[in-house]
Amino acid sequence: MNQDYIKPDNWSVIEEGFDAERVKSSESLFSIGNGAMGQRANFEESYSGHTFQGSYIAGIYYPDKTKVGWWKNGYPEYFAKVLNAPNWIGIDIEINGENFDLAQCTSVKNFRRELNMKQGWYNRSFEATLQNGTEVSVNVNRFLSLELDEVGVINYEITPLNKDAKIVYKPYIDAGVHNEDANWEEKFWEPLDVKHDGNEGFVTARTFKTHFTVTTFMQNTLLKNGDELALSPENVSANNEKIQFVYTVNAAQGEVASIHKIGGYTVSMNHDDTYIAAQKTIEKALEKGYEQLFDDQSNAWAKIWEMSDITIDGDTKAQQGIRFNIFQLNQTYSGKDSRLNIGPKGFTGEKYGGSTYWDTEAYCIPFYMATKDQQVARNLLTYRYNQLDKAIENAAKLGFTNGAALYPMVTMNGEECHNEWEITFEEIHRNGAIAFAIYNYYRFTGDYSYIPEKGLEVLIGIARFWHQRASYSTHKNQFMILGVTGPNEYENNVNNNWYTNYIAKWCIDYTMEQIGKIRADYPSDFSRIMSKVKLDDAEIAHWKQVADKMYFPFSEEHDVYLQQDGFLDKDLVKVSDLDKSQRPINQKWSWDRILRSPYIKQADVLQGFYFFEDHFSKEQLEKHFDFYEPFTVHESSLSPCVHSIQAAVLGKMDMAYTFYLRTSRLDLDDYNKEVEEGCHITSMAGTWMSIVEGFGGMRVKDNQLHFEPRIPEQWEGYSFKINFRNQVLKVSVSEGETKFNIEGNTPLVVFVNGRQVTVEPDSLVIV
Ligand code: BGC
Repeated sequence: MNQDYIKPDNWSVIEEGFDAERVKSSESLFSIGNGAMGQRANFEESYSGHTFQGSYIAGIYYPDKTKVGWWKNGYPEYFAKVLNAPNWIGIDIEINGENFDLAQCTSVKNFRRELNMKQGWYNRSFEATLQNGTEVSVNVNRFLSLELDEVGVINYEITPLNKDAKIVYKPYIDAGVHNEDANWEEKFWEPLDVKHDGNEGFVTARTFKTHFTVTTFMQNTLLKNGDELALSPENVSANNEKIQFVYTVNAAQGEVASIHKIGGYTVSMNHDDTYIAAQKTIEKALEKGYEQLFDDQSNAWAKIWEMSDITIDGDTKAQQGIRFNIFQLNQTYSGKDSRLNIGPKGFTGEKYGGSTYWDTEAYCIPFYMATKDQQVARNLLTYRYNQLDKAIENAAKLGFTNGAALYPMVTMNGEECHNEWEITFEEIHRNGAIAFAIYNYYRFTGDYSYIPEKGLEVLIGIARFWHQRASYSTHKNQFMILGVTGPNEYENNVNNNWYTNYIAKWCIDYTMEQIGKIRADYPSDFSRIMSKVKLDDAEIAHWKQVADKMYFPFSEEHDVYLQQDGFLDKDLVKVSDLDKSQRPINQKWSWDRILRSPYIKQADVLQGFYFFEDHFSKEQLEKHFDFYEPFTVHESSLSPCVHSIQAAVLGKMDMAYTFYLRTSRLDLDDYNKEVEEGCHITSMAGTWMSIVEGFGGMRVKDNQLHFEPRIPEQWEGYSFKINFRNQVLKVSVSEGETKFNIEGNTPLVVFVNGRQVTVEPDSLVIV
């Protein structure tokens, strides 16, 4: 049974009723972010129940020294992780002399959380009775400004209900935070300076080793019944990492005593003097004031939704799911800064270290490409270009030579940060996704300039890696790729994972094709690149042998490519025959049992069919889908979206719909029973693909948009927008008809189920 306490709503995520067991899950689900920072939905006031505290700043990380049982040559020295950042949201509160703590109250009624995705704010309200008998009503609003992305705002209101109350607000900033996943329980922050001035407080701290300096700031304003009180702190207590102010407001029964707390971070990545920058940032925020900041916030979100919203009619849970996914993606990455990337947990938890995975190229780029300016996707590609030297060093550590590049499985700054041999050394398919993204970017945007400018060097490094990683079998007279882990991490150290071999061959072929094109059409880029990478025709001829003679395991009996050489030797019991009590197997079984089993964590062969759909017939897709899906447990968040797209292509609409719900509500309904650790941000882009590419059937072929719209029977209609080469196309699908609408002055030719249609500006085309 999945979790089902989130109320269905088109625009909001809503929780009703207080349940201490759900606090950690809700802290993940109600997380807020603005691309530059983000935080879990921790309570502002103190809470003695179970909680997972987390605030994060984009790009600020710490290299935590690797901890493993048996050291293996080639392991990275450290695992860079996004840090739990100083806490600026904290406000201790005393009501009639008692510390206010929901875990200690004698009753909590009408508890409600709302994450309003339309306007980008988080609200919590409830009535509580303290042990001293005081009853209060509490209403708290919080948002992280998109407009001023170093600023967050809290409005905390308390109304005593049954008697007058002396309310003491004690807002603080605390840099004495730690990561739950720290390897050596080290402190990651070195406190530098604590300052205060009137209602403003500042704590400056620096990360050990990476030396990022961050000033965390707060500014407090007290109000009664909405009118500002000219209060300054009665008391300021500070040590070297924490500062706390004290304000008292006496509120008669029914009066509203509130505090506006502005807080946030200024970081040395963006400022020379973070303290001065913090002062200026507070000034800017105060100039705008709470109301204006709030209006700016809704306007900024309205703009985002204008381009990226997907509507679904007749199915509130499905609608809520997709909006939650689009909201989280926009909270995590704005695309403004090519130093940043999209961590699998975004700003909602520590797991995966907040770093960059193949998820970005394989899953996220299509979403950002189609809903933002194409520069955003280009920034994501540039991020990898800027890390090419490190990828070459990384390959060299494993014994590869001559400029072969192995991009890391997990990284913050280009260095590998993962330290399990079966993944670090063997899950090398990630290199393929990085090359595929270059192809995909050009296919979608038509911007070829990226390849001669930057992309080709990356492709050459990757092709060199595959050429050296493959080994020749005299026995088969073919090239093998031995000892790998495919996308399915439930099999390690297998030989000839079909997906890996396929993408390796494709990378070499595609690189050779691009070399030919750049040689012919961009001669000056060609000579610049060739003299830099020292590549000659003899080397290319060696690559070609590997690509031409790549081995692909195949079963004549089943007429399918085999996931790896030994797949058919497994005990092939389908997932449907597994007792439900055994699931999820990653929480119930030993690792050794998982490895021997036929169960597939996520799309593997089918991932290849997804990337290279046009290399195969629909019949082949169906055969492979029908063969592999029954063994797939979808215990990676990245799995259901690919299956939803393929089920839609195959007309298996019930399955497509079920997988759609699973991908879009994975966190809201906690399918994998781990939402406490944070939300699955990168797979949320896969959810977007399952509507646009799955149900909408959108593809780009020969520079033109194609659609094969289908609609699940549970829906009355759905719509999405695509920014295709600077033209914004709206597509609305209902049973039996698809409408197209183009913004701007230029017509656009699209294909619907193979039929050419011209969409004229300002007119609705109905197909
Ligand atoms: C998946 C990987 C993925 C990682 C981060 C793992 O569970 O198997 O494919 O890159 O999560 O999302």
